[in-house]
Amino acid sequence: MPDDATSAQGARMDRSADAWDFAGRTVAVTGATGGIAGAIVDAVAARGVTIVMHGRRVDALDRVVDRAADRGADIHRVTGDLADEPGDVAAVIADAAPIDVLFNVAGIYTPGDLLSVDVETICRDFDVNAVAAVAVMQAVLPGMNDRRRGRIVNVSSGGGSFAEGLARGHAAYAISKAALNAATVLGAGCARGDVKVNAMCPGWVRTAMGGPSASRSPEEGADTALWLAALPADGPTGGFFRDRRCIPW
Ligand SMILES: NC(=O)c1ccc[n+]([C@@H]2O[C@H](COP(=O)([O-])OP(=O)(O)OC[C@H]3O[C@@H](n4cnc5c(N)ncnc54)[C@H](OP(=O)(O)O)[C@@H]3O)[C@@H](O)[C@H]2O)c1
Repeated sequence: MPDDATSAQGARMDRSADAWDFAGRTVAVTGATGGIAGAIVDAVAARGVTIVMHGRRVDALDRVVDRAADRGADIHRVTGDLADEPGDVAAVIADAAPIDVLFNVAGIYTPGDLLSVDVETICRDFDVNAVAAVAVMQAVLPGMNDRRRGRIVNVSSGGGSFAEGLARGHAAYAISKAALNAATVLGAGCARGDVKVNAMCPGWVRTAMGGPSASRSPEEGADTALWLAALPADGPTGGFFRDRRCIPW
């Protein structure tokens, strides 16, 4: 897409943000113990939602669950390691409640260029960053299609973007996020009615993954994901976004 068209589209979409009210909706979040997912949960918890909250570390998940419940959210709690059992975790999420909005947020960022990273690491990053997200999409997208409404937001990264050069020092991450981007396009192609599937990059965010020197707060990192979840029916699908604007794959 030419730059001018991208800017024009971004400006138009900014004006129509927050068209979907979260009240009464069921929101699923993977990796809810993480920094960006935690900011997503905090942003929606007081807005009359049910949250299907997935986390790996039970104690940390309990803390996020308690915080969201204090804000008034109804919670379904789902535990499990996405590297070991992505299909099982996905099935539990989908069975908990009909999902209106899915945030695929869980991720890992393992260092090593293509020649130094071992194959087991590539497989683990691929399972968490790509396969698990696909498994949850497969579990919830048919229900969204049946109900003719839904939003799926895949939290990806510029590190998986060919246009941004891929994260060469984190080859397993780059490969897995590029695959997640591909799955986003394929998922959008399977969506029916007012169902949208988009990917986003949060920027460099101060979380366990991004580290304390990162330029953005978790709330800033979560903003575009929340905006994509609230897109109106005439909003985009099958795209890649940062700062509420379309970016190249
Ligand atoms: N931070 C950044 O600068 C940045 C930049 C670009 C993209 N992103 C993307 O943003 C997303 C969220 O990252 P974040 O910055 O919020 O990182 P984070 O705080 O480290 O959170 C990562 C989350 O993923 C979960 N997770 C990791 N491996 C898992 C596994 N095997 N099974 C289940 N859950 C697992 C973690 O669970 P535990 O709590 O159990 O470890 C945690 O909840 C990721 O997809 C990341 O790639 C982040």
